[in-house]
Amino acid sequence: MRLSTCAAAITTATLFASCLATPTPNPADPIARTISDRIGRKKQQKGEKEKKPSTKYFHEPGGGNKLGHYDKRYYHGIVSDEERQDTQSHMIRAYLNFFHEQELDTWIAHGTLLGWWWNGQRLPWDYDLDTQVSDTTLHHLGEAHNQTRYAYNSSDGTVQREYLIDVNPWIWERERGDGQNIIDARWIDIRNGLFIDITGLSEIHPDTHPGVWSCKNYHMYKTSELYPMRETMFEGVAAKVPYDYDKVLVDEYKVRALIETDFHGHRWDTEQRAWVKKPETVEEEEQERKKKEEEEKKKVAEEARVNKSTRES
Ligand SMILES: *[C@@H]1O[C@H](CO)[C@@H](O)[C@H](O)[C@H]1NC(C)=O
Ligand SMILES: *[C@@H]1O[C@H](CO)[C@@H](O)[C@H](O)[C@H]1NC(C)=O
Ligand SMILES: *[C@@H]1O[C@H](CO)[C@@H](O)[C@H](O)[C@H]1NC(C)=O
Repeated sequence: MRLSTCAAAITTATLFASCLATPTPNPADPIARTISDRIGRKKQQKGEKEKKPSTKYFHEPGGGNKLGHYDKRYYHGIVSDEERQDTQSHMIRAYLNFFHEQELDTWIAHGTLLGWWWNGQRLPWDYDLDTQVSDTTLHHLGEAHNQTRYAYNSSDGTVQREYLIDVNPWIWERERGDGQNIIDARWIDIRNGLFIDITGLSEIHPDTHPGVWSCKNYHMYKTSELYPMRETMFEGVAAKVPYDYDKVLVDEYKVRALIETDFHGHRWDTEQRAWVKKPETVEEEEQERKKKEEEEKKKVAEEARVNKSTRES
């Protein structure tokens, strides 16, 4: 869950708007323009549609909550809720273990941090997981660990998996640019394409705004909100969270996110210290499942009818 452009971020962003750089060739540049005009004209002559080449590095099979959280290369279809939850719990443990083993700094962020705040676990309805790193760590990841495959064995020895670290070549560009590459790296479960989004924070303007850290999507943090990091546990393994996590969460999600106990079809159960699906959500999902099953049956029956009539004619 990432409420990406909160109002505060937009306000602060305008502060920097004047110094924004674009990674793509500047279209206002006369030489670039002539060349692209010429290419455009040639294409039009050939009857092709003029299309700007995309700079996007990571690709998903589609947009939205359902498809937007899979890496296209490893996607074989939407997984069940159970598989997603199992994937995510092991994936974040493996990730935290790797960073710990390599003595690299990372911390949990966004909706994942909100999940930690409630009970040290991910939010059961969350489609993705988010972590952050400093730009120094990010650059080290790019140079030393890009395309590394990490073999994971769960602490009880029952689950073995492999994860791929893929680092976006646009990590050297720390401004938002065309907005296609705000995710700096991914930790991918190669069985199904689900991933952890890793974003780096940089002090974009140490001269005019020292101690202000920003990701490429303009989430801003002060040094004192981040450091010193607090050592904690997440999904049963050692993890770190920003020093002033309350402020970080309220800035991003408002106070309501720390109070509301009825959220996303789930209810906070004080005794279990867990988010549980509400009976009406379970009922709705059951209805949905039945409806799909019926539709599938109808489709098969219709096909059989068509087959039969083709055979008979
Ligand atoms: C995983 O760990 C268990 C015990 O913790 C061990 O017996 C097993 O050999 C390990 N598997 C792999 C593939 O490393
Ligand atoms: C990571 O590796 C991929 C595949 O080789 C490459 O395309 C990409 O540019 C690399 N990223 C960095 C930061 O070098
Ligand atoms: C209808 O015919 C197609 C093609 O021969 C076949 O693949 C399909 O299984 C048949 N459907 C049914 C319900 O018999």
